[in-house]
Amino acid sequence: KMNAFVTALMNKMTLEEKLGQLNLLTTGEVVTGSVVSTGVEKKIKDGQVGALLNITKVADIKRAQEIAVTQTRLKIPLMFGLDVVHGYKTTFPIPLALSCSWDMDMIERSARIAAIEASADGINWTFSPMVDIARDPRWGRIAEGSGEDPYLGSKIAAAMVKGYQGDDLSKNNTIMACVKHFALYGAVESGRDYNTADMSHVRMYNEYFPPYKAAVEAGAGTVMTAFNEVDGIPATGNKWLMTDVLRKQWGFNGFVVTDFTAINEMMAHGMGDLQTVSALSLRAGTDMDMVGEGFTGTLPKSLKEGKVSINEINAACRRILEAKYKLGLFDDPYRYCDPSRAKNEIYTEASRMEARRAAAKTFVLLKNQNNLLPLKKQGSIALVGPLANSRVNMTGTWSVSAEKEKHPSLLEALQSQLGAANVKINYAKGSNLTADSTLEKNSTMFGRSLNRDNRSAEALKKEALDAAANSDIIVAALGEASEMSGESSSRTDIGIPDTQKELLAALVATGKPVVLVLFAGRPMTLNWENKNVPAILNVWFGGCEAGAAIADVLFGDVNPSGKLTTTFPQNVGQIPLYYNHKNTGRPLAENEKWFNKFRSNYLDVSNEPLYPFGYGLSYTTFAYSDIQLSGTRFKPGGSITASVTLTNTGSVDGVEVVQQYIRDLAGSITRPVKELKNFQRIALKAGESKKVTFTITENDLKFYNSDLKFVAEPGDFKLFIGGNSRDVKEAGFTLQ
Ligand code: IFM
Repeated sequence: KMNAFVTALMNKMTLEEKLGQLNLLTTGEVVTGSVVSTGVEKKIKDGQVGALLNITKVADIKRAQEIAVTQTRLKIPLMFGLDVVHGYKTTFPIPLALSCSWDMDMIERSARIAAIEASADGINWTFSPMVDIARDPRWGRIAEGSGEDPYLGSKIAAAMVKGYQGDDLSKNNTIMACVKHFALYGAVESGRDYNTADMSHVRMYNEYFPPYKAAVEAGAGTVMTAFNEVDGIPATGNKWLMTDVLRKQWGFNGFVVTDFTAINEMMAHGMGDLQTVSALSLRAGTDMDMVGEGFTGTLPKSLKEGKVSINEINAACRRILEAKYKLGLFDDPYRYCDPSRAKNEIYTEASRMEARRAAAKTFVLLKNQNNLLPLKKQGSIALVGPLANSRVNMTGTWSVSAEKEKHPSLLEALQSQLGAANVKINYAKGSNLTADSTLEKNSTMFGRSLNRDNRSAEALKKEALDAAANSDIIVAALGEASEMSGESSSRTDIGIPDTQKELLAALVATGKPVVLVLFAGRPMTLNWENKNVPAILNVWFGGCEAGAAIADVLFGDVNPSGKLTTTFPQNVGQIPLYYNHKNTGRPLAENEKWFNKFRSNYLDVSNEPLYPFGYGLSYTTFAYSDIQLSGTRFKPGGSITASVTLTNTGSVDGVEVVQQYIRDLAGSITRPVKELKNFQRIALKAGESKKVTFTITENDLKFYNSDLKFVAEPGDFKLFIGGNSRDVKEAGFTLQ
């Protein structure tokens, strides 16, 4: 039916009208890039626009849609896209934080709520999920993805797509997903945004492609290209990537949209003039041009000159019309324009409660000496730090639709939650976010204030020390401002900014117990903090209810269960550092201590991370029994099970993420020292035990070999189960 409908429509379309469908323009606020679309209204009327981005609110969207469906010749409705990345008005934690929950149902639910809210405001297309594997914390956009692991990243990619799209895209509360950025954007050299990426195909297929593929298999309607090059050709013009891999190998049948002006940027990459790069991009498999207007501007000429074919234009146009059909826009172009919904469905109490519960699940307890946490609801607390009372810094990057001024700060949340409890809070800012005005200026591109205090660093610090002197315990809310991570926010120093560190050192020197509540959009270097601060709770950027969620965890109303999905290095020189690395020909032996000459290690620091992948503490402790295997050999088609008994050995209830890793001991290509292959979130009451069982099949052992065939090779494997990638029980088995 869809096919016939689209064919009939296309039979009526002129070339200009077809190219109009390939054109995505921006209105209103420009979120990224330097180009603002002009004459948008006239272009819509002339049938030269297929979709708009960055327009919100039913009234405005309806007005634009009205122009498209009443004033154009063929009355084709527009799509309306926005970066709804971790929530709409009800903002959830940044994606990197969400991944640390390892809770797929919760992640799917966060996307569902985002879809309900965005669609209630007229949006029908989100530029999410961002599934780029990232192993370089200097790259600011590591905040927007799910960390370093392809297996976990794939599960999350699928959960997000399901959450946005539901099981019926034409319902008015589901929206179309856009998987981005295809491909390898997370592997930009030296962590500098938009930089070159270069790697072997074997690595692409095994380590970087899986989450994109999983999102496609989950039915994602659209895919966005990446700014970087792949194999020396910018992704936006890379035919192998978009046609051979995406469409032919993975069967993707939705449409591909470029990133913001990515076609035009191919000129700076050195691929030729606008006509050349636009033709290259279309031929490669791009369908929609975001903001650059290279397609509408140059494809008529390219068609005349035989540089592109009408079949290529038709194919792109068809895919876009099909997406509109799937969204139900031809049945009812105002499907997402119900003015009664916003009031009842956006930023509701119930959604905010879900965001609060979600946020608490994403926090990672990095250190808790002598069980300093949870805090007791008594006595006095010095709450200090530039992030202690900063509403605008609760949500983190890419929360373009959030109303940040509405989100309670940590101080406000603590005050309201403690209510009548007998706790005195002595608040002091203590320092600015950064002493360095360049870093500050560069981190406020979105106009988000860092609330700079003009008093001297000494005066600010003194106020904090006075608060500390009058308190039993110090809670220091420090770290990065929202915009120190995210797009175009790469850093070469990933520590807490110096002025805050000086404050922290002075607080520690008082001898009072200090809890560091760390706000971060990336793994940070925390060697000094780990050595000197007794308790560290990493809260990332927790979204609109972050303040309440932090209070929940600080006072033990919620027991933290988050586990890192990116390695925290000891220092920047170790980067890239990730758990699923190769062994090399000269590894340190398992029980061999650093340093060893002529082995693969550094003179000045061990190979160990500060905190490994999968790591995170709880207010209780968990003990793992040895692994019980149902057998030690199985044939392709068969399986074995591996079980451990997990015991909550502490005195409070808690949740443990039990992780299973596998190592292929010998292969036709070198294999990683460990790969995550399954996990379970297990809730246990204090003192309770439970048997946790994983089934291992041939599928868990498959990888792409040097012919890029997905195979499992017979041989010996190691199996590891534990609460993080380092501290594991071990067993072995054989695939016959
Ligand atoms: O979706 C984003 C992308 O991630 C970065 N460039 C702009 C796009 C649209 O806002």
